[in-house]
Amino acid sequence: MVRAVKIALSDAQQTKQDLQSFLSRDFYVKKEDGYIYFPVIESYTGETVDVSLRPRSTPTRAIPFKEALQDILTPEELSFAKTAYEVVGSIAIIEVPDDLLAKEKEIGQCLLSSNPKIKTVLRKLGGHQGTFRSQDMKVIAGVPTTVATSKESNTKITYDVTDMYFSARLATERKRIYRQVKEGEEVLVMFSGAAPYVVVLAKNSPAKSVVGVEINPSAHEFALQNITQNKIKNASVHCGDARVVLPTLNQTFDRIIMPLPKTAETFLDCALAVAKENATIHLYGFYHEDEFEKAYEHIDAYCKQANRNYTLLSTTKVGQQSPRTYRICVDFSVHPEKKIVQH
Ligand SMILES: C[S@@+](CC[C@H](N)C(=O)[O-])C[C@H]1O[C@@H](n2cnc3c(N)ncnc32)[C@H](O)[C@@H]1O
Repeated sequence: MVRAVKIALSDAQQTKQDLQSFLSRDFYVKKEDGYIYFPVIESYTGETVDVSLRPRSTPTRAIPFKEALQDILTPEELSFAKTAYEVVGSIAIIEVPDDLLAKEKEIGQCLLSSNPKIKTVLRKLGGHQGTFRSQDMKVIAGVPTTVATSKESNTKITYDVTDMYFSARLATERKRIYRQVKEGEEVLVMFSGAAPYVVVLAKNSPAKSVVGVEINPSAHEFALQNITQNKIKNASVHCGDARVVLPTLNQTFDRIIMPLPKTAETFLDCALAVAKENATIHLYGFYHEDEFEKAYEHIDAYCKQANRNYTLLSTTKVGQQSPRTYRICVDFSVHPEKKIVQH
């Protein structure tokens, strides 16, 4: 026999919503003689009856998120609910529209039950903010944590999703970069965050060394942890403003990665000052598809100012920021002799 809440069929929908976080997924509901029986978990303290219910086969079937939402939202609410979400490690991150905030906990529970790998559901409270690119979030279901571990290219990157920027979606881009690294290169990652580029490059390329610079102290702490947990020996990270830190390193680099899409170009003078002759620079930026030229103009202006010649190598669309606006990476090399500039 199973503990269940017995309710008239006419009240089924409302009761199911009220019981959402107490429903047992181990048994099927049963309809009989105008009543419905909802199996409940042990912690439920309301009135129950003992009834015979058919057990679900184990392991418990994951209920697809959209399907689970149908049980707790009205058709109108469903029409504007966001069903897309991001998963990093065991954390799912979702937006909940203002009109559904009263049901955020139930929405979180639906997401938890949709995928056994998800242990925590966070609701975004805004976008990435400020220099540190932090992002406010609230735990709405599951284990109360904001620290996630994401796996990519034989590495594990641990970071706090609220305190710093990291995107697992850029794994393919990082692979594109580490495949270009040649034996013995000295690589610089400006704006290194929790060190995904540093760790992934050091682990998967024949670089001699990889150096990261990051201004956000919390991201820097995670970077140190990521270097240690991935047993990286040829990488180091420095905490501070790249503009201030780079001149103190007394080092020049064969490859410089600049993953700060909003303002990376304003640091081109610092990058060029530590770029070896024939160095390759990877400059990230957000540009409308009709305005990629602007990135080339920045490169041209800064190289002229620094008396460096350059060759544009490629432009890669790395992701989409909004309709027709892309995160792009322009790869270019600097060199001593004047060469034809190709666009
Ligand atoms: C878009 S995030 C990229 C983080 C990391 N490279 C990644 O891909 O996950 C940009 C990073 O640049 C850092 N940053 C911003 N201004 C900086 C500066 N002047 N010097 C060093 N780091 C800076 C921010 O704190 C942030 O972590």
